[in-house]
Amino acid sequence: MSKLFNNYGRQAFEIISGQGSVVKDDQGREFLDFTSGIGVMNVGYGHPQLVAALQQQNEILWHMPNLYQSQLQETVAEKLIGKQDYLAFFCNSGAEANEAAIKLARKATGRSKIITFIDSFHGRTYGALSATGQASIQEGFGPIVPDFIYLPYNQMGELEKVLDDNTAAVMLEVIQGEGGVLPADEAWLQQLAVLCQKNNSLLIVDEVQTGMGRTGSLFAFEQFHIEPDIITLAKGLGNGIPVGAMLGKSKLGAAFGPGSHGSTFGGNKLAMAAANAVLDIMQEKNFLTAVQQKSALLFNELQKIESDKIVEIRGKGLMVGLVIADEFSVKEIIQELQEQGLLTLRAGQNVLRLLPSLTVTEAEIKQATGLIQNVLTKSN
Ligand SMILES: Cc1ncc(COP(=O)(O)O)c(C=O)c1O
Repeated sequence: MSKLFNNYGRQAFEIISGQGSVVKDDQGREFLDFTSGIGVMNVGYGHPQLVAALQQQNEILWHMPNLYQSQLQETVAEKLIGKQDYLAFFCNSGAEANEAAIKLARKATGRSKIITFIDSFHGRTYGALSATGQASIQEGFGPIVPDFIYLPYNQMGELEKVLDDNTAAVMLEVIQGEGGVLPADEAWLQQLAVLCQKNNSLLIVDEVQTGMGRTGSLFAFEQFHIEPDIITLAKGLGNGIPVGAMLGKSKLGAAFGPGSHGSTFGGNKLAMAAANAVLDIMQEKNFLTAVQQKSALLFNELQKIESDKIVEIRGKGLMVGLVIADEFSVKEIIQELQEQGLLTLRAGQNVLRLLPSLTVTEAEIKQATGLIQNVLTKSN
């Protein structure tokens, strides 16, 4: 009998090693991993530059609290922010990054209401859970944090009515990930950003899943031509070493003075060494262009599949969702793909989600789409 809480629906096997986009299990089976550890292993398993950076930092020092200066935090912040006008706070996960964002928004504006969207996912801690617009995820944990309001995604009507002078922020994913790989409508997002600005409400963009090159730009919001006041990151930032970040416009800095917020492990030296190496890899000349090319190939190959099980193919970059017709079970499709040697994910109720590593090869994309074709065109 397992001594672990049964809060995850786990497969019966364990993955014990990985290289690039290929992982091996404890029974010697190999899988092509199109989950990237749920959008985490963006530069793949065992990337030599990352391994070297971690080994080197491990020998020097892996933890020191935020009582002292941290040159590594400064370096990672500079690489994330570039010439933009943001400040960084480091933590350990996506939920924590969102907690920081919610706290900063309330404190900086002196307002309490936060508008988020139906089917959003922002994490499992109380603030992040309260921001998450899915009743099933909140069920049994009430009372949740007050003053969160959930509106329909990609619709303007109610937003104009609800946004008022007690609205601290509007918080959203520019592509809803867990909710079903659903991209925002660009015109809606731009209109929403203008409304926020007019109302002095902050725009928080949760890039935990969409960030770190996943959609073909470092941050997905860049492709929607908006400028968030607060950005949250985690997942791909440390490529599997736990790290999260919140970037906030420097005008918000006064609200996060000494003692206002913190984390013992936040910005830990090992985590920063990982993030630093990840950013170096992503900022190499052609890295993001290659992601865009691989994305075009993946969409192209998927579009060639003729199957009445596929209703729609959507997403951006290497964050792709195949909406599956209601009469078929995504769970069963994932199981069959797994038996064929391809690991994939579900999103929402009926979306087959593909999140390959950004270093996936063209041959691996063709191998994966070949397997998807086999499974989706097989007659039941
Ligand atoms: C958009 C988004 N925000 C927040 C989170 C929560 O991140 P974590 O599990 O690191 O707390 C997730 C996790 O899937 C996510 O997809």
